[in-house]
Amino acid sequence: MNRASRTASVVVAGSYNAGLTVYGGGLPAAGETVLAHRFEAGPGGKGANQAIGIARLGVDVAFATKLGDDVFGSQARATLVSEGLPPHGIMTGSGPTGVAVILVDTSGDNAISVAPGANLELTSRDVILALGDELEKCSYIVCQLECPSELAAGLAVWAHEGGKGVVLNPAPARPIDRGDLHLFDVLTPNEVELATLARHLGVETARVETQALALVDWGVGTVVATLGAKGALRASVDGVERFPAYAVEVLDTTGAGDAFTAGLVAALARGSTMDDAIDAGCRSGAFCVTRRGVIDGLATSGELETAVPWDQARTTDGSP
Ligand code: RIB
Repeated sequence: MNRASRTASVVVAGSYNAGLTVYGGGLPAAGETVLAHRFEAGPGGKGANQAIGIARLGVDVAFATKLGDDVFGSQARATLVSEGLPPHGIMTGSGPTGVAVILVDTSGDNAISVAPGANLELTSRDVILALGDELEKCSYIVCQLECPSELAAGLAVWAHEGGKGVVLNPAPARPIDRGDLHLFDVLTPNEVELATLARHLGVETARVETQALALVDWGVGTVVATLGAKGALRASVDGVERFPAYAVEVLDTTGAGDAFTAGLVAALARGSTMDDAIDAGCRSGAFCVTRRGVIDGLATSGELETAVPWDQARTTDGSP
């Protein structure tokens, strides 16, 4: 069956950014210039990464995004279509295509600055008009925070009326209106994003368990926090559980959170339990950091099965 004619079971609405990545010895301090050794340009943006990641894992995805009418926009459209994402979700705005300047050091850590451009024009109305059929049929809707916050909240209201699951990757770190938190079934923050969300609720502790449970108290269904080498943490009304990280050789952490969310959502869309989906997310994130750049780090199901000896890579506990 032609991919375009299959029913989408996930809709991702969010950003596309052209990624301009410099690999160097260290991240520069304010006012400092450092000499790096390698440059790469390629596709990115948290929305695009998550949509491509889910598609590569064999789950039908429709992606809604806004590009500029420029060379980066043309490249983006070609990439997204070649990944099997339906063209009618890929819209053109009046601003330029989003651009991310990414610096990666030798330990794989990164610093990213994004000029969102046309991403800031994407509204929930645009998505509903462009992908109405896919939204009706899908089981999960996935958003991030590189577009206006109205996008995630507006789609979540719509989704709840239709009984869909709503997953928000609250990245980059931005506060969310506390009255909107109940709209999200699953949040996938990293540690910085989790602390930002908790601080906005008046929670000042550094304990990630307390931060995550505060979000649950405000109505989030499940908080799945990604903690890098410390693994992941799940918090819900059933309590808190930690999940171990997989120990792999880290080349580039860019996009690991996107790969995690893609792995988690793909598993949920296939009917996995939340705990199995978190493990799938941990594997996708671990695979991603072993590759340079985001796109090469988004695994197919086959690559995930064979590229890493998961039993040997499993660490014994997820404690901090
Ligand atoms: O999460 C990684 C992504 O963040 C990069 O692809 C970059 O575009 C920024 O959006």
